[in-house]
Amino acid sequence: MKETPKETTIRLLRELDGKPLTSDVLAKEPGCLVKMASSQIRRIPQWTGGVVYRSKFGGLMYGFASESALIAFGVDVLEAGAMAIERAGMNAVRDSFVAAAERGERCGFDMLELHCAHGYLLASFLSPLTNIRADEYGGSVENRLRYPLEVFTAVRAAWPKDLPMSVRISAHDWVEGGITPDDAVQIARAFKAAGADMIDCSSGQVSKQEKPVYGRMFQTPFSDRVRNEAGIATIAVGAISEADHVNSILAAGRADLCAVARPHLANPAWTLTEAARIGFKDIEWPRAYVSGKAQLEAGFARERAQQTASKGD
Ligand SMILES: Cc1cc2nc3c(=O)[nH]c(=O)nc-3n(C[C@H](O)[C@H](O)[C@H](O)COP(=O)(O)O)c2cc1C
Repeated sequence: MKETPKETTIRLLRELDGKPLTSDVLAKEPGCLVKMASSQIRRIPQWTGGVVYRSKFGGLMYGFASESALIAFGVDVLEAGAMAIERAGMNAVRDSFVAAAERGERCGFDMLELHCAHGYLLASFLSPLTNIRADEYGGSVENRLRYPLEVFTAVRAAWPKDLPMSVRISAHDWVEGGITPDDAVQIARAFKAAGADMIDCSSGQVSKQEKPVYGRMFQTPFSDRVRNEAGIATIAVGAISEADHVNSILAAGRADLCAVARPHLANPAWTLTEAARIGFKDIEWPRAYVSGKAQLEAGFARERAQQTASKGD
């Protein structure tokens, strides 16, 4: 019988038992995803099953390091061995973020985003739903920000000054007692003061109890508030699926950039397609595909002309 993702996780934990995750292990588990998670643990298997490993840092389970012992999330978390991260682990995680940024620079990336959303470790420090620490890293929003800001500051110092760095936040936990857009504005101000160039305004995925209200451009109001109240550039994301959405968001001053994810899964040439749809020709196509450009543009131009003609009828 095929094992469940949870069984995969637990089996891998047992098999690895103190050994680092290696490419041999990954080769046996095609499609595995390594996540540095906390409340994300409950949904680690994105499609095939999760992978966890023990770190060399004092037996800390790096994959499942948690801001708090997440009793709230119950047995799954405890079985998988999540534990509240302690200072030594926090240093190690911070330094790993810095090392990742340095690798990113060596690889030639021109923008970096620190993930403080969706229940990942830094998000779970930020949210009062997941952070139940009694030390200086839990309690008030200032305390909950302390470690994410420490990581941000260390990464920002390692990342070239002339290259932008954004921070992705969950601007709404969609749960009573969780992060609200008011908190998001405060969090954005803190990251701005620490040197962030942009806030990427996502939401949710922090608590199982969430009741998100989806809809076209549903997270754009968070970007709008953060941009206009905290005075920092933002990225709007979430159910933005047409060039017209993007243009209206930017023109109305609700964001500085729009991120588009799932439409690219349905159509990897989404950006090229949308550019052609609105008649924007000054866009570079990959050389191998260039012979499709004029035809697509002509097709959309015909459609626009027909629409204009039918409006005149
Ligand atoms: C298959 C898939 C995987 C994703 N993985 C991540 C992820 O690892 N981290 C993240 O911040 N967002 C992730 N997202 C969310 C997207 O970044 C984006 O915020 C979300 O899909 C909403 O935008 P959209 O409506 O344009 O898809 C993922 C989305 C999809 C569809």
